[in-house]
Amino acid sequence: MANDGVNQGRRRFLVAATTVVGGAGVVAAAIPFVASWQPSARAQAAGAPVEVDVSRMEPGQLMRVEWRGRPVWIVRRTEEMLAALPDLNPRLRDPNSEVETQQPHYAQNIHRSIKPEFLVVIGVCTHLGCSPSYRPEVAPDDLGPEWRGGFFCGCHGSRFDLAGRVYRNLPAPTNLVVPPHTYLSDTLMVVGEDEGAA
Ligand code: FES
Repeated sequence: MANDGVNQGRRRFLVAATTVVGGAGVVAAAIPFVASWQPSARAQAAGAPVEVDVSRMEPGQLMRVEWRGRPVWIVRRTEEMLAALPDLNPRLRDPNSEVETQQPHYAQNIHRSIKPEFLVVIGVCTHLGCSPSYRPEVAPDDLGPEWRGGFFCGCHGSRFDLAGRVYRNLPAPTNLVVPPHTYLSDTLMVVGEDEGAA
């Protein structure tokens, strides 16, 4: 009987322990789910980073997201688009991204991004803040035979290439701004957080 008492007590302990473990399991399972939620609209307005899945973007496609109330454009550039960038240098105001306020240090390169394939820029003209149009086509009638794709600001005619670099002798003084960004995986990008911080 004494043994029975011990066993009963042990059984109760095991049941209680299992319940606690079960409870802890539920909590542990819930954490990744909560962590994968997008920040609330309020948190985003306050500047929370934004996760963007770029896995389904087609080559040449532009995706719009919002960060800190501003439009952010992500362009999946093709090999042809990237190959055209160096030839444009003589026609640009800051081809080597030397104005440090316009991009993080890891985007201070010919393609102005971490991965050459993906451009990330704030979609606001650096002249007076209009929103330029995405014009990826080569030599369309309205932009002329030398156009190699980029962004055109209809307000006062500023032009930017497919790395957001501004052409010379036009109103916009600087390249489009590259916001902080990094990658959680090959195709999951975080806008608003610096490389190495994620
Ligand atoms: S606001 Fe873009 S050119 Fe003036």
